[in-house]
Amino acid sequence: MAFISNRYTALVGIEHPIVQEGLGPFRTAKLAAAVSSAGGLGTVSMPGMPVDIEEGARTFRSHIEECASLTDKPFAVNIPVGVDRDGKVLPFTDAYIRTALAARQADSAIADRLTVMTTSAGFPGDYVKLIKDAGLIHQHKVGSTRQAVKSAEAGTDVIIAAGFEMGGHAPASMMHTFVLVPSITESVDVPVLLTGGARDGRGLAAALAMGAEGVAMGTRFITSVENTDWHPAYLQALLDAKEGDDVAFDGVYGPCRGLRNAASADLLQHGSESGGLGEVELVRWKIESMQRAQTDGDVENSLVMTGQVASAIHDLIRISEFVPNMAREAAEVIRGLASKMLVTV
Ligand SMILES: Cc1cc2nc3c(=O)[nH]c(=O)nc-3n(C[C@H](O)[C@H](O)[C@H](O)COP(=O)(O)O)c2cc1C
Repeated sequence: MAFISNRYTALVGIEHPIVQEGLGPFRTAKLAAAVSSAGGLGTVSMPGMPVDIEEGARTFRSHIEECASLTDKPFAVNIPVGVDRDGKVLPFTDAYIRTALAARQADSAIADRLTVMTTSAGFPGDYVKLIKDAGLIHQHKVGSTRQAVKSAEAGTDVIIAAGFEMGGHAPASMMHTFVLVPSITESVDVPVLLTGGARDGRGLAAALAMGAEGVAMGTRFITSVENTDWHPAYLQALLDAKEGDDVAFDGVYGPCRGLRNAASADLLQHGSESGGLGEVELVRWKIESMQRAQTDGDVENSLVMTGQVASAIHDLIRISEFVPNMAREAAEVIRGLASKMLVTV
């Protein structure tokens, strides 16, 4: 049963305006399928930047195929737009966008389900047309009102407004959702999703109050029983996190939020001096370190990305129940508040 129907749910064809957003460079095929099957929108994440991009593209495609085999509902892919110093889009971005398009072309079952492409980090430029021409709904994640307006003018269908409290790569502008979301919803006509800090129906209700039409979460979905692809120690580290246990360090595309531990402390103290690595090697080290946390569960000596909201998350959710319950809770919060108003308008 749909508790909240709006332009976003109608556009994407989902029951609840609740998105599991990209969690790269990790494996999220099962997680994405679970969220989509529960009536939200799940997202298959980019698998990292291996030296052999073709190998990365094959991994990405296998994750897309796995997700499509696990759900018959719409799902998304997330591809960060990496750019070099001259503003040129990096090869991995191009390869992953074309991989997703090729997977749809090759298999109608994938085309039916993979209906949304989310880009993030840099401006997607010419890719907006490529994505739209392929028949996909295009969502772009931004950290400022200026970027939101630019993306909407370029033809993006949905803007994801990213606040600085979010997990993973956070906006360089360091704007928080409470300021950013209303500014963006006032400035663009397309549906807007809030990302950063949401964890339950109250967060969704707050997002709707600020003019957004849904929420896109990361940390809340990582800590779920369905997320069996990740090392249990990663999930436990997020459950154990307290307020102040997170920190923003220099990531791959600007600031990145993760846990305070030996790895992030070393990075903060030594920066590019870490292990005497050059620029490219340091980026690769960071990505491999992030991946080690997920695969090996070394949550002390690897970079563990998480949002601030981990400090308020103490249990694993079951996604099949959580997604509809969250939408119901948001509707009840809004109705409950309205019923307490003394003056009716
Ligand atoms: C472990 C982790 C990995 C992430 N990887 C990506 C990514 O590859 N691409 C992207 O656009 N956002 C990425 N994000 C951001 C999420 O998509 C989402 O916007 C964010 O988690 C929202 O904040 P929350 O964690 O408070 O829900 C990542 C977040 C986390 C926690």
